[in-house]
Amino acid sequence: MQYVKLGSTGLDVSRICLGCMTYGLPDRGTHAWTLDEEASRPLIRQALEAGINFFDTANVYSDGTSEEIVGKALRDFADRDEIVLATKVHGRMRPGPNGGGLSRKAVMSEIDHSLRRLGTDYVDLYQIHRYDHATPVEETMEALHDLVRVGKVRYIGASSMYAWEFSKAQYTAERHGWTKFVSMQNHYNLLYREEEREMLPLCADQGVGVLPWSPLARGRLTRDWGKVTRRSAADSFGDQLYLEGDRAIVEAVTRIAGDRGVSPAQVALAWLLHQDTVAAPIVGAAKPRHIEDAVAAVELELSDKEIEELQQSYTPRAISGH
Ligand SMILES: NC(=O)c1ccc[n+]([C@@H]2O[C@H](COP(=O)([O-])OP(=O)(O)OC[C@H]3O[C@@H](n4cnc5c(N)ncnc54)[C@H](OP(=O)(O)O)[C@@H]3O)[C@@H](O)[C@H]2O)c1
Repeated sequence: MQYVKLGSTGLDVSRICLGCMTYGLPDRGTHAWTLDEEASRPLIRQALEAGINFFDTANVYSDGTSEEIVGKALRDFADRDEIVLATKVHGRMRPGPNGGGLSRKAVMSEIDHSLRRLGTDYVDLYQIHRYDHATPVEETMEALHDLVRVGKVRYIGASSMYAWEFSKAQYTAERHGWTKFVSMQNHYNLLYREEEREMLPLCADQGVGVLPWSPLARGRLTRDWGKVTRRSAADSFGDQLYLEGDRAIVEAVTRIAGDRGVSPAQVALAWLLHQDTVAAPIVGAAKPRHIEDAVAAVELELSDKEIEELQQSYTPRAISGH
């Protein structure tokens, strides 16, 4: 495994982050395709044994059960000091007032709930899952800064939003001497490259580490177009994100993978790992082979010609996934 500094921080993260949205009780929350605890634990252990030190979950994943399963597995299989544990806040955890969002009240409560479920007294990277238009950004940034000051959080990060929103949060923090975001977790892969317009240049300029979510387009970049799996059949969010015309990109991935004798997943991840701002794609792994491919992708060098071939069929599209 290779390790890289996350953005301009001193934090070492593996070049593959394990996406833990895959792990959680299927009958809790909105992801019926997740793996339960028994099925999840061997994969988390395999990731650790492969040198992956970076794990991403969220309070909302499977109604908190992702944090519970991941926290317990990491306590059983890893040394807390050696791993980088990331979670998120913003999504709705219960109906009614203050059940979600980024108010001071919500942030302060949700970190405590996440720490309890994870079974740890600090989170390495605490990320806002989305921008909260109903809360002043000053309120959110000061609350996050206070979490860093009291030691519940080491670094803070953000996830999908417009570049102007991210910029506003960053300059608000800077103006007040508060902690700034060190990472951007955004939707970026061969089938969705709108982030190349504004967000990626902003992150490059500001030394923010990029952590692409759904780097394999939720599996679409790993298999023949139209092939349905248990997850893809139940993934209504994924259905909104990609276009019929993306088939040509998937075919290019498959062609290059065939020529190289590697899997399509390796090619799609290698392309992301070649992008300057990308620190670590957050890979969803539901089978041992998925982790093996992700780890192998770190060593796969693509030629300029292959990169051109992978990129040439992309068509600009409307912003989605925010
Ligand atoms: N911040 C956000 O808003 C946000 C949003 C989404 C995700 N995330 C984060 O990103 C992580 C990854 O998301 P994701 O699961 O959608 O990512 P992904 O890596 O694009 O998709 C994972 C799926 O791709 C397929 N796959 C993965 N490796 C494969 C391989 N080597 N060969 C064949 N198929 C393979 C599997 O699909 P099948 O199971 O269908 O076979 C797997 O479930 C999440 O766990 C979460 O931490 C964040």
